[in-house]
Order: sequence, then C-alpha cells, then structure tokens
Amino acid sequence: KEKKVLYSGMQATGTLTLGNYLGALKNWVSLCDDYECFYGVMDLHSLTVRQNPTEFRQNARKLYALYVAAGLDPEKNCIYYQSHVPAHAQLAWVLDCFTYMGELNRMTQFKDKAAKHADNINAGLYTYPVLMAADILLYQADVVPVGVDQKQHLEITRDIAERFNNLYGEVFTIPEAYFGQNSAKVMSLQDPTKKMSKSDENVNATILLLDDKDTIIRKFKRAVTDSEAEVRYGEDKPGISNLMEIYGCITGKTYDEISAEFSGKGYGDFKLAVGETVADELAPLQKRYEELLKDKAYIDGCIKENDAKAAYFANKTLRKVHKKIGL
Ligand code: ADP
Ligand code: NA
Repeated sequence: KEKKVLYSGMQATGTLTLGNYLGALKNWVSLCDDYECFYGVMDLHSLTVRQNPTEFRQNARKLYALYVAAGLDPEKNCIYYQSHVPAHAQLAWVLDCFTYMGELNRMTQFKDKAAKHADNINAGLYTYPVLMAADILLYQADVVPVGVDQKQHLEITRDIAERFNNLYGEVFTIPEAYFGQNSAKVMSLQDPTKKMSKSDENVNATILLLDDKDTIIRKFKRAVTDSEAEVRYGEDKPGISNLMEIYGCITGKTYDEISAEFSGKGYGDFKLAVGETVADELAPLQKRYEELLKDKAYIDGCIKENDAKAAYFANKTLRKVHKKIGL
C-alpha cells in the first residue's frame, strides 16, 4: 500500500449540523493528500430506524451532495453508497458469528438508542456495531476518525478483527483512531453541556448546514450564555466557550486572540460576529450544493464510479475471509 487507508461515513440523513461539519466533514477535505480515503453514505445503518422510502432515497442523495459541496473531491476520495456494495452485509453476517452477545450488551449506544426508540428495538439496532466493524475492516482501514462518542465502536471493531486474525492469520488490518488536528466538538446552542445533534427537538439548539444567513444569526443571538459580559474560555462558561470554539475553528484564532478581540464589547457583538462568520463559511457550500442537486448526471456518474471502486476493494477482503473460513 502506498498511502494508509482511512475510513469514515455518516448516516443517510438529508441534514447535517455545524457539529458534523466542524467535527468531521470540514476536516476530511484535506485528508486525501495523506490517506486513501473512503467515505460511505451509510444507508444500511439508517434502516435501524423506520424510514419513509421516498424521503430516505432523497436524503441519501442529499448527503452525497453535501459531502461533495463541502469540498470532498469524488475523484480523490472514494465516496460511495454502503448499500451498493453488498460485501458490507455479507461480511457483517460473518462477523456476527465472531461477536459475543456479552460484547454487544456492553455497548452504551445501544442502551441510549433503545431508550429513544422504545417502540422499535430491533436486532439491527443491537448488531449495528458489527456492521460498523464490517464497514471499516472491508477496506483494511488503518485509521478511522472518531468522535469521543464512538470510541467504543472502534474498540469492538479492533476486538473482532484481532479475534478473527488470531484464528485465521493476518486477514484484517487493525484500525487505529485518528484525531483531527483542527476539529471542534460543537455543543447545543440551548444547552451547552450537550452535543449539538440533528435529533435535538429544539430547533434553536442546532445550526443546520443549509440554514440561511438570517436563521444562523438569529440562532446565535438566542444562544444560551451566562450573566457576565466577558468573552473568556472556561469550564464555568460552557455557552461562551462553545461559541469561542466555533469561532476559533473557522477563523483559526486562539482563545486569547478572541478574548482580546471582544474585550470591552458585549455578548451581542460577539454572537453577531460568530453568526456572520459561520454564515460566510457555509455560503459557498450552500451554493455548490444547490448546483450539484441540479446536476443529476454528474452525481450519478460519481456514485457509479466510486461504488465500483469501493466494491473492488471490499470484495478483495471478502474473498479472503471466505477462503479462510471455508466458504
Ligand atoms: P449526530 O450526532 O448529529 O447524529 P453522527 O453521530 O451521525 O451525528 O455523527 C457523524 C459525525 O459527525 C461523527 O464523526 C461525529 O463524531 C461528528 N459529530 C456529530 N455531532 C458532532 C458535534 N456536535 N461536534 C463535533 N462532531 C460531531
Ligand atoms: Na449520533
């Protein structure tokens, strides 16, 4: 291998948040210089919750367009649909048989999701980490960018891979976590102790990538802060710290520089500056996104080409696995 392999992806939803962007997508753009990058539209994972078929299909396509609009070049990155490469489901079944119930019982995300979807606690929700292991191991990924909330998933992937390798020899590369240098953890604008998430019911808590400028500024103006008037980073100031993290991530300014910039000014000025900075950052992405959605042939071509590329690598691993286990 010339370059190390990097694997990541997001569930097939039509919206992404500023958290998805600053925590993941924005950082992915330049990784293709150093890594052979695979990014999936993880539509099989999305089936763990009930989907409206028409919306689901549109959402997967919107996610694809958002990836590209954010700057991921489909010629330099393999951006493909998980469901278009059957090897994901095929390897997941094999790995299911090498995963213990006890391991899955320990996954904290299952407990969270089961509590949230009490009316549909399906087996897919439970074995989700095994499908995720298959996603990563199929491409012999060396590194996986992970958020703190996903560490447990990478751990179980490594455990399954090591177990398999111990039985059958060196079949899978054992993936490592990759921590981006300039990635931000973005908190809810209404409760800065919680992660900003698209599933938040309070619309003011979340900046969506396709929100227009006025909406973005309005949401930042309403962001929960504190009763002081000091733009300072600190654990005792989660609201202001979150805004500083967002502003710093986009402008490249340090916390000290930001404090100095807004010293003697009120929170109103600071919030407006953050809102404008975010809106200006997202404007080109939004413009490109609109163009891409109209260019059906271009997106179709990218999907087709990259599906085939992904399948080539995935099938190579799957054949190796089948051979080892006697299928
Ligand atoms: P969500 O929590 O919005 O459902 P996902 O769990 O699908 O998002 O995460 C997709 C990617 O975005 C992951 O790499 C995750 O670490 C990152 N991410 C999600 N929310 C945030 C956030 N608030 N701040 C930073 N990164 C985030
Ligand atoms: Na999530």
